Amino acid sequence: MDREEIIRWLGEEDPSQLETLWQLADAARMRHVGEAVHLRGLIEFSNQCSQDCTYCGLHVGNKNLTRYRMSEDEILACVHSAAEFGCGTVVLQSGQNPAMPAKWMESLIGRIKRETSLAVTLSVGLRRERDFALWRQAGADRYLLRFETSNPRLFETICPLLSGGLSRRMSALDVLGALGYEVGSGVMVGLPGQSLGDLADDIECFRRLGLDMVGVGPYIPHPGTSLGADEARRRESQPIDTELMTCKVVALTRLLCPRTNIPSTTALATVNPAEGWELGLARGANVIMPNMTPEKYRIHYEIYPAKACIHQPGKHCLDNENLQGLLESIGRKTGTGRGDSLNYLAAATPNK
Ligand code: 5AD
Repeated sequence: MDREEIIRWLGEEDPSQLETLWQLADAARMRHVGEAVHLRGLIEFSNQCSQDCTYCGLHVGNKNLTRYRMSEDEILACVHSAAEFGCGTVVLQSGQNPAMPAKWMESLIGRIKRETSLAVTLSVGLRRERDFALWRQAGADRYLLRFETSNPRLFETICPLLSGGLSRRMSALDVLGALGYEVGSGVMVGLPGQSLGDLADDIECFRRLGLDMVGVGPYIPHPGTSLGADEARRRESQPIDTELMTCKVVALTRLLCPRTNIPSTTALATVNPAEGWELGLARGANVIMPNMTPEKYRIHYEIYPAKACIHQPGKHCLDNENLQGLLESIGRKTGTGRGDSLNYLAAATPNK
């Protein structure tokens, strides 16, 4: 599929054509990664952040936020809950905070690896190469670092403080791959000023990078950010239906990167609380990330407002019963084991 065809699909509005796209993506998902839905337990261990990204509620300028970093023991308690819940992986996520000591993270990773058999995914933003290397040596398996948009000018406007801009983020993805991490990236869909061509470039970029994981969610304006507060500008330049567009990007990503692990994102469940998780899974996704962060911290991890499951319990919170029921209702089953990327496994054993 070339760029023109991707753009054509992104602009498609005919319901019967879209049904074809969903079916193609679902068939590719079944053929390449099967019926299993892998669970990654998300632990939002700190909302401290030194960056000033214009879309994100955790940005350094947001003084209305109570900042926290969970202790190692608190995080370990969440890790054990994630294992009991049936997750094969924990995702340690935080804002981008250079003041977080690399050694602290090293010790945390070591302890998780000693106490459990879970895969460990890090999602803590850009760091120096030697930190990435230290954590990999400590046993971290995967790293998530979204590039947010492949359009360098749009990137500059949404992440003005990020030194080195988009190209530094892209080279970090290479570094992470060379260190032996499974590498994940992704974008937001529906950013003000983002075009269909930009989204097509994003999807081609996923393919070119040979990513192991691709996370795609709708951009959700946050009133405590400069981008989100500017509602009028948003309406004017964001006429697209972000939920539908996100589903198209998920489906096309499955078609172009068939063996990649793709989550049905919390952001999608936030814009469509009734069936966002299911829609993602039916249109190409094969991963769910249940939130394991204790509520007292979770309420402060507000990257966008009204995040699905910010208060527990809720219909759409993925407690065990809800999740099993949800997966059964769409004919899928919970993945067992770590749910490693097939791309990564194939690269590690080239004869298979
Ligand atoms: N809307 C949607 N997604 C957001 N993220 C951050 N802020 C928002 C928002 N307002 C996403 C970014 C980031 C990930 C952790 O959360 O893509 O990489």
